[in-house]
Amino acid sequence: MKILLLGSGGREHALAWKIAQSPKVEKLFIAPGNAGTAETGENVNIKADDFEALKDFCVEKGVDMVVVGPEDPLVKGIYDDFKNDDRTKNIPVIGPSKKGAVLEGSKDFAKGFMQRHNIPTAKYKTFDGTSLEEGLKFLETLKAPYVLKADGLCAGKGVLILPTLEEAKKELKEMLGGMFGNASAQVVIEEFLSGIECSVFVLTDGKNYKILPEAKDYKRIGEHDTGLNTGGMGSVTPVPFATKEWMKKVEDRIIRPTVEGLAEEGIDYKGFIFFGLINVEGEPMVIEYNCRMGDPETESVMLRIKSDLVDLLEGVAQGNLNEKEITFDERAAVCVMLVSGGYPEKYVKGYPISGINEVEGSIVFHSGTAAKDGNVVTNGGRVIAVSSYGKDKEEALHKSFTEAQKIQFTDKYFRRDIGQDL
Ligand code: AMP
Ligand code: GLY
Repeated sequence: MKILLLGSGGREHALAWKIAQSPKVEKLFIAPGNAGTAETGENVNIKADDFEALKDFCVEKGVDMVVVGPEDPLVKGIYDDFKNDDRTKNIPVIGPSKKGAVLEGSKDFAKGFMQRHNIPTAKYKTFDGTSLEEGLKFLETLKAPYVLKADGLCAGKGVLILPTLEEAKKELKEMLGGMFGNASAQVVIEEFLSGIECSVFVLTDGKNYKILPEAKDYKRIGEHDTGLNTGGMGSVTPVPFATKEWMKKVEDRIIRPTVEGLAEEGIDYKGFIFFGLINVEGEPMVIEYNCRMGDPETESVMLRIKSDLVDLLEGVAQGNLNEKEITFDERAAVCVMLVSGGYPEKYVKGYPISGINEVEGSIVFHSGTAAKDGNVVTNGGRVIAVSSYGKDKEEALHKSFTEAQKIQFTDKYFRRDIGQDL
């Protein structure tokens, strides 16, 4: 098979690493990819949302399957675009239709969907510019802290958690006044939930599903979850509190109703679903849906899938995922993200990276890197994920921290407390 993978981050390098191991793959293309994906296949200089150029490329090269890494092309409708074009209608795109991607693209839609299907989530109400006064009154009925969510995509910045009513009211006015442009034309206000978060992933063909290994990610820049939110500083799988019993609740109350709900509502969904969950006194509740894999969860989760991922993806495309088997590696896997100093605020790009070839026994996934004059240089806030196996998370983390010391670039930073809270 010839596969085209879309995206350019650590998640895509991890997917590419796993896809390239499949004996079914004859050729792997990554568009646009990064310096790491170039080692697993051939990078193609096309943007992940340039659908016309992607379709031309697929036709010219005889691509058999497109796997979408990031949400952006999905929310923009790549699935439908390929389907509605006679030249590409028979090339399966792994990812939901535009309607399905709205689970991630609109917080209001996601909350309404959960309400319709009795899926446990925080109580909420949605407001827009015409209902600001009602929104302010609604805030008064809630207890601190206050959770405000811009309805649309804001590159992970659209959720505000405010400690006082005064701040919440001020931010609500600003959000509805255009703080995130059109994305905050509607704002979801919801009840604050207290607990530990866990990311659960499934692959679905729209009818059947397979649950992938769960993971916990670390979002804040500072140790012990302090400072600003980032794209993710590390991840750990398995998650100790995600016991068999807990995962059964997740499957019965959340996963199955979601997959069945999508089918009932006539929403075409053949791809990954990411359930951002929170464990509230032993009961799983949904914080958010994403229509793609998580980053940096993918950089540990892929290590624990023993089965051929491409065989599973074929099951998604052909609608016979129930006939496929998924097996897990029993070891723990973790990823530690090396980031540019200053991230998630201002940072410098273009520093040379050394020592990658000295890493032994861990897997290096490139996130924000580029090739320049024969060297690999930093090209983003999150630069490199160092992923490792271990008999338990402590062993895996020790390995990643040890190997992370060998990789050098100016102002390198990583969190040394990944996994400590579990
Ligand atoms: P989201 O983009 O919806 O995942 O929200 C970003 C982050 O905000 C989540 O990962 C949580 O840490 C936090 N968060 C979102 N909603 C809530 C909530 N209702 N209660 C507590 N924390 C929340
Ligand atoms: N790790 C969280 C995300 O991918 O959105």
